Amino acid sequence: MVTLNKQAFQGRDFISLNHFTAAEISHMIDVGIELKAEKKAGIPHPVLQGKTLGMIFTKSSTRTRVAFEVGIYQLGGTGLFLSSRDIQIGRGEPVQDTARVLSRMVDGIMIRTYSHQEVLDLAEYATVPVINGLSDFLHPTQVLADLMTIKEYKGRIEGLKLTYIGDSNNMANSLLLGGTKMGMHIVIASPEGYQPVPEIMELAKQNARISGGSAQVLLDPAEAAVQADVLYTDVWASMGQEEESEIRKKVFASYQINQKILESAHPDAIVMHCLPAHRGEEITEEVLEGPQSVVFDEAENRLHAHKAIMALVM
Ligand code: CP
Ligand code: NVA
Repeated sequence: MVTLNKQAFQGRDFISLNHFTAAEISHMIDVGIELKAEKKAGIPHPVLQGKTLGMIFTKSSTRTRVAFEVGIYQLGGTGLFLSSRDIQIGRGEPVQDTARVLSRMVDGIMIRTYSHQEVLDLAEYATVPVINGLSDFLHPTQVLADLMTIKEYKGRIEGLKLTYIGDSNNMANSLLLGGTKMGMHIVIASPEGYQPVPEIMELAKQNARISGGSAQVLLDPAEAAVQADVLYTDVWASMGQEEESEIRKKVFASYQINQKILESAHPDAIVMHCLPAHRGEEITEEVLEGPQSVVFDEAENRLHAHKAIMALVM
């Protein structure tokens, strides 16, 4: 059965990849790869037998919900889907109280919500590990699965160039942090006013100084894509920004992964998207469905990578 270095992880929150060392992120990826191989070979791995994960959602989800719910089940435990429409948090019960109540009953809590501060407050008051399943600021579980996918396709992570084209949202932030931790060269192409906040760039640059990677922001997507090993994009308007959709369509019109951008990248470049995608906006149908797109492997790896997180911290 899977080899877990639980000592370094048990009881820890998974809120940002920046809270982990490169060696720890590598271990999580390797555990994900091992769990994937075991699953495909039909080898059971009930390492969380009898444990329960509470999953709070105040936003929609397909991949994250299914990955955690199926994942905990495959690890021998049970997942509880707690929609904010049904639990008292949606009627104003403080997250601090929710944290303490759930901690008396479950072994881990995953939360997907708007405010990053809410995730931090939950973690402060919970006595069980808290996993950030997406906030407006970060989406670290996605990036762990992305790094695993890059490792599978490229055989390594360190030294590769990843170009992200589009809005500097939670995905861009987590790619900047996780990528530079792992020694990648992260280039972000975003228009004025939609570029990464200084706090993220400072952390990414600090990481890069240690790992030998780099972090750069450019305006021109074509320039950013040159020789990229990985091209990445995400929606122009994230959950909660729906009313800005029309303005954003104009602002981001040229920030699209299309055949022309793909041709600037390395000939073996892979194309990634966290999904859901808006075809014809941030990515063309042709590229999303094309031979260099790995988006569905990336989506599958949410399951394996999230099992690794749970198996290690819970
Ligand atoms: N990529 C991602 O987090 O997908 P869901 O919103 O479907 O969970
Ligand atoms: N940036 C997107 C990611 C969805 C998985 C959002 O927050 O809506």
